[in-house]
Formats: sequence, C-alpha cells, structure tokens
Amino acid sequence: MPTFSEKTLQRANEIVSHYPAGKQKSALLPILHLAQREWGGYLSTESMDYVAQFLDISPVEVYEVATFYSMYNLQPVGRYVLEVCHTGPCCTVGAENIMGYISQKLGIKAGETTADGLFTLKPMECLGACGYGPVLQILEKFHEHLTEQKIDDLIAECRTKAAALN
Ligand code: FES
Repeated sequence: MPTFSEKTLQRANEIVSHYPAGKQKSALLPILHLAQREWGGYLSTESMDYVAQFLDISPVEVYEVATFYSMYNLQPVGRYVLEVCHTGPCCTVGAENIMGYISQKLGIKAGETTADGLFTLKPMECLGACGYGPVLQILEKFHEHLTEQKIDDLIAECRTKAAALN
C-alpha cells in the first residue's frame, strides 16, 4: 500500500485538525485531492485504501465518494487533463465542436490519453462557468470562450511546459 510523503502527511494532518475529534471523515474530499496529486493524478484502489486507513473509515466510504465526483480520476491520466464541459449551456455555444476539434487534433476520443502521456480528454458536467462557454479546465485553471485557435495555443503551451520539465 502506498503512503503519503512526509510533506503531504503534514498537510493531511493539518487539514484533519480543522475538524472536531471523531469527525475526520469530513476531511475526505481535500485528502483525496492530496492523494490524487501525490500519486500521478489518479486514485488507485490501493491509494483509496490508504486514505481510508489514514482517516480511520471503511474503504467503501472512500470509494463511494471518489466514484461520485468527476474531479477524481480512477484511471491513470495524462499530465494535462483537458476537462471540457459538455452540458447544455456550453453545447449551445459550441462545446461539442470544441470536443471534436480536440479529439481530432490529439487523435484521441473522450476518456482517452495520448500515446505520449501528455493529454487526456475528459468530458465534464457543468463546471459552473456557464456564461463563459465553451469552457475547459486544465490543472484547476479555467479557459473560457474557447475557439479552435485558443485550443491550439493551449496545447502548444502545455507541450512547451512539459518539454521544459523533462
Ligand atoms: S454548462 Fe458549461 S460551465 Fe455550466
């Protein structure tokens, strides 16, 4: 079973300390975010079991939360997850075309990851930015009023950043 790094463990304990004794389960969402960040952007069964042990709750309590919220990835993902809103209001302003354009540009379908491990295309329900559609999120940052040109620029920017990190 994986374990948190020292730094993450400190942060996790600090988060838990915000809740009354015995109510540590309330820290589940932020702890799952930490776990996802710690272990490559997704939650394996082993990492969810570790979180359950850490919070002293049953594994199924973790699974039911992790499988409910779309911000948790349950499979390995690319370095950049393109989370594209495909709910009604965004669709009326072109979200489906944007999804199709990304899919064609990267050669992947929704839910897939590029062979180089850089990009995952993930359709999302409403991201809460309906007035700014089409919208996508990458690494917790929103990109609004998307056009094909903006997608080209975003993908190029991600590739440049990834190259600089390697
Ligand atoms: S419908 Fe796309 S952000 Fe709400």
